Amino acid sequence: MTTFSNMRTEYPNEPLDLEHADADPFAQFANWLQAAIDANHVEANAMSLATATANGMPSARMVLLKGFDRQGFVFFTNYNSRKATEIAENPNAALCFYWDKLSRQVRAEGTVEKIAAADSDAYFVTRPRDSQIATWVSEQSTVVESRATLDEGAARIIEQFEGQDIPRPPHWGGYRVKPFRFEFWQGRPGRLHDRIAYSLQDDNSWKIQRLAP
Ligand SMILES: Cc1cc2nc3c(=O)[nH]c(=O)nc-3n(C[C@H](O)[C@H](O)[C@H](O)COP(=O)(O)O)c2cc1C
Repeated sequence: MTTFSNMRTEYPNEPLDLEHADADPFAQFANWLQAAIDANHVEANAMSLATATANGMPSARMVLLKGFDRQGFVFFTNYNSRKATEIAENPNAALCFYWDKLSRQVRAEGTVEKIAAADSDAYFVTRPRDSQIATWVSEQSTVVESRATLDEGAARIIEQFEGQDIPRPPHWGGYRVKPFRFEFWQGRPGRLHDRIAYSLQDDNSWKIQRLAP
């Protein structure tokens, strides 16, 4: 067995306590994401997205956070992909961010919904042309015969839309994860890390509690 028993990192970071955590988890998230960007993380907006089938078999993959506000966290993908199939049968999802330079993790759990088609259109036009082409070519999560199948598909789409704007394919767009729970984890020396959890209450306020590491 390959083991990592000697691989240990100390986390000499600032504490996160109930006094200093923002009462609003979205504001707390905004602070931490900005700090991760300022610390020059490559793709600070990358997050693990976990979905599950109707009977609870989970699957996780990385996606890019493309926007957030108090309504939730938006990412873009193929509406026929494996994740989309799982979201259609089970609208619960979990997100996880990790910023190693700051020893920070953020977790969020919530429900998922498609964003408005107009909002997907608005984002699609900002994508580079080759990314737009890829959304037409890739039947995401299906088996492809070979790399050549993808390259030939791209060549066909390039020809089809030559001299024109590329429209958003109907099978591609955004989802919004609407969190009802957050957790902010700050690595601390000696493994007694700080964990601050927020849970959404019936009156739409957020209850904040410290969790044991
Ligand atoms: C850093 C990173 C960012 C990614 N961002 C996205 C994304 O925003 N949207 C997306 O559909 N796939 C993204 N992917 C690819 C997904 O991880 C995954 O392979 C793909 O969405 C298919 O997942 P599925 O078969 O579970 O639906 C990203 C992968 C990595 C490593």
